[in-house]
Amino acid sequence: MHKHLEKIKKNEDQPKVIKNMFSKEEINKFINLYNELPITVHNKKQNVIKKRWLVEYGKDLEQLFYNKLKNEIGEFRYDNLKNDDGNDILGLFQESYNPIGLHIDGGFNLEDLIYKQTLIPLTPVGSTVIFKNRFYGQSTNFTIDKKELQKKDLKYGQNKRSSEHLGLYGNKPFDKDLHKKFINHEKIENLAGLEVELIYEWEVGSMLIFDRTNLHCSSSVIDGKKIGLTTFTKK
Ligand SMILES: [Fe+2]
Repeated sequence: MHKHLEKIKKNEDQPKVIKNMFSKEEINKFINLYNELPITVHNKKQNVIKKRWLVEYGKDLEQLFYNKLKNEIGEFRYDNLKNDDGNDILGLFQESYNPIGLHIDGGFNLEDLIYKQTLIPLTPVGSTVIFKNRFYGQSTNFTIDKKELQKKDLKYGQNKRSSEHLGLYGNKPFDKDLHKKFINHEKIENLAGLEVELIYEWEVGSMLIFDRTNLHCSSSVIDGKKIGLTTFTKK
C-alpha cells in the first residue's frame, strides 16, 4: 500500500483527453525518436517491442513535452525507471501486436507520491480502457491465470502478478457487451466488479492523462500493430 495515501487521493481526478495537443510535425518527431532509440525488450511470444526514452535522445522534444504536460497537470517529476548507468528514462514506447491485459502502473516505490500518467498514440487505430476502480499498490498485472500468478522471479521494472483485485470492488459480473466489444482478450471473470470510466479511442495528435491509481488495459481493437508512448509522473 502506498504511504502517502491521503495526498495521492487528493490529487485524483477523472481521466482527461486533450485533443490537438501535438501537431503533425511534433508527432513525426516522436516517431523519429522512436525509430532512433535502441530496443530494450523484444518479446517475440507476446509480440511486443519496448523502447525506453533515454535522456540523451530527443532533448528538444522533451522540453516541449514537459511544458505541455505541466500546462495541464501543474508541477510534476518524471517517475520512471533508471537505465543501467543510473540515468533517468523519460518514458516508454511500446509497439504491440496484441492487447495488454488489466494492470496498474503504481510504480515501484511505495514512498512515492504517485500522480498522473500519459499516453500519446503514434498510430491511429487502438483504444485504451480506463476503469473507475482504483488500486493503491505497486505496479501489478491483475490476472487469474495460474501460470502467470506463479511468476515470482521478476526483473527490475517488471510488474508483480496478482489476483487481489477480485473481491475488492464487489462481485458484480462485468458488462457482457463491453467485454465482447472491447476487452475480449481478458477472461470476463477477471473483470468482476469493474466499471468502465472511459474508453479512449486513439487519435494521433491527442493525449490521454489519467491517475496512476486507475486500473486500465488496452482494448482488443488492434489493426496489425500499434505504437504508443507512456510517461509516468509523481509529485
Ligand atoms: Fe499501463
